[in-house]
Amino acid sequence: MIKSIRGTRDILPDEVGAWHRVEQAAHQLFARYGYREIRTPIFEETQLFARGIGADTDIVAKEMYTFPDRDEEKTSLTLRPEATAGIVRAVIEHHLDQTDPALKVYALGPMFRRERPQKGRYRQFHQVDVEAFGIERPSIDVEIIQLALDYLRACGLTESQLILNSVGDAKCRPAYVETLRSALRAHKDRLCADCQRRTETNPLRVLDCKVPEDQAIIESLPKISDHLCAECRDHFAEVRRELALLEIPYQLSHRLVRGLDYYTRTTFEVTSAALGAQNSVLGGGRYDGLVRDLGGPDLSGIGFALGLERLVMLMPPGPQESRCDAFLAVLVPRAFDRALLIQHDLREAGVRVLVDHEARGLKSQMKKADKLGARYVAIMGEDELADDVWTVRDMTSSTQERVSDVKLAEYIEEKMRGRDAG
Ligand code: HAM
Repeated sequence: MIKSIRGTRDILPDEVGAWHRVEQAAHQLFARYGYREIRTPIFEETQLFARGIGADTDIVAKEMYTFPDRDEEKTSLTLRPEATAGIVRAVIEHHLDQTDPALKVYALGPMFRRERPQKGRYRQFHQVDVEAFGIERPSIDVEIIQLALDYLRACGLTESQLILNSVGDAKCRPAYVETLRSALRAHKDRLCADCQRRTETNPLRVLDCKVPEDQAIIESLPKISDHLCAECRDHFAEVRRELALLEIPYQLSHRLVRGLDYYTRTTFEVTSAALGAQNSVLGGGRYDGLVRDLGGPDLSGIGFALGLERLVMLMPPGPQESRCDAFLAVLVPRAFDRALLIQHDLREAGVRVLVDHEARGLKSQMKKADKLGARYVAIMGEDELADDVWTVRDMTSSTQERVSDVKLAEYIEEKMRGRDAG
């Protein structure tokens, strides 16, 4: 038997209601904040991600699904591991900053990373991604954070923790990275192999290390918060002041550097203890140099992405949804034409109606109607056919009535309207 690829999962019809709920919540809430949807391709040129996310990151170095295109030029393509780089490419390509007076967008869709699969970590997963461009003021950082938290609340999530940091900018970070590297070199022999390598290639990544033996050393390292330039310090202070004004609680963590290289200044994550090892529900931050680095104008940017699998896992279960309002149970094949005509009338009137195409016995059809959550079952057997009527059973009150064939559609429609209004 052919099975699904390791690290991918089917979202089955029984689960899809929860997905619809989080998708609808996104469309509704983000519109209130002035964000509009953008849809970019699932694959892009490999160099977009290599340049955007950073060649030394785990994502680019180890996790991308990359393959040559079937062309003469030997273009290298990659399945998107995240949405930000593709959105930035689209902003530049279509000069969106020149035409949109408030360039705020969001996207929903699958991303691909070849990570080791475990609970909450997949090789194909889905993100909700939100990005705002061209605003320097710290108030946009706060808006994005508030939007992220409002979204979690709209999805019924109450237990989560906001973690906040500032990683500086092109002016102050290089000096900090050098300070960090020197401090790390002093401990080099006592660090794990990965951190020994990162000391030379990308010292900030060391702050992300989870190896227990390394933690004491990492805690003793110089902190970025003590090495920010005046502009970054002021920016971060204002972010914190506005968060306090809006009564948004958070925890500072000087180790929150995130796994992508494009961040400047504010970085944040929301975690939930209920998720276990993969506890990050969403993460994001500012990326003021990225648009320019990818060949666009000098446009600041900030955003976040949230893992939908993780969100759905945390959501309280929704109500069991009924599959149909009315079920037509035909017991004699000669009556089937009536069912075909009536079901179409009902569907046109917006009523959800199902019929048993196999026209089995009454007991089996009633059982099926019950399982599908039908509110009304209209039955036509020999007797009903002779009198040109249906026996309509109200499944909630277990009462039944005879209704003439020509009136059935209207009868059910009215009942449904009455119920909806009540
Ligand atoms: P990220 O932290 O790599 O950031 O991913 C954001 C979220 O995607 C994570 O918090 C997690 O919920 C989910 N996620 C990531 N990898 C997996 C996986 N293998 N399986 C399941 N869920 C996963 C970004 O992607 C940035 N582009 C966010 C951003 C947008 N920054 C600025 N704008």
